[in-house]
Amino acid sequence: PRVLLLNGPNLNLLGSRDPRQYGTLTLEGVEERFRVLGAELGAEVECAQSNHEGVLVEHIHRARRLDGVVFNPGAFAHYSIALRDAVEAVDTPCVEVHISNVYAREAFRHTSVTAPVAQGYIAGCGPTGYELGLRAVLARVAERRA
Ligand code: DQA
Repeated sequence: PRVLLLNGPNLNLLGSRDPRQYGTLTLEGVEERFRVLGAELGAEVECAQSNHEGVLVEHIHRARRLDGVVFNPGAFAHYSIALRDAVEAVDTPCVEVHISNVYAREAFRHTSVTAPVAQGYIAGCGPTGYELGLRAVLARVAERRA
């Protein structure tokens, strides 16, 4: 199976950005851990990050050719109808991940417009959430193939 790890705005700053919320692992570190687990679980992994909504939309469209997406939309989760529509428009299962526990934070982070069209949702598990997301996406792929 082929899985895309997609990170949205400001996640390129992981490692230095608000370490109390997001930890000290860099985006490179996150992607490396994701690749290692992917190899262990027999998945082919691609990683991408963008600060631009339209570029993220295009990555989701491209994921039609893949088996799953693990997606941290960053702040776009809270208000991007375009990203929600993109996730809804493709058949590829998408697990939404937030590193921080958004429900323990400001009220504007409690809404996700993308979560209702995602396969699943993980928040507050730190960078480990990406690995949980990969396992969840692969479990769905295995179910679909069974
Ligand atoms: C985030 C949570 C969002 O509210 C925030 O805007 C981010 C990161 C997270 O991973 O916890 O950029 O998606």
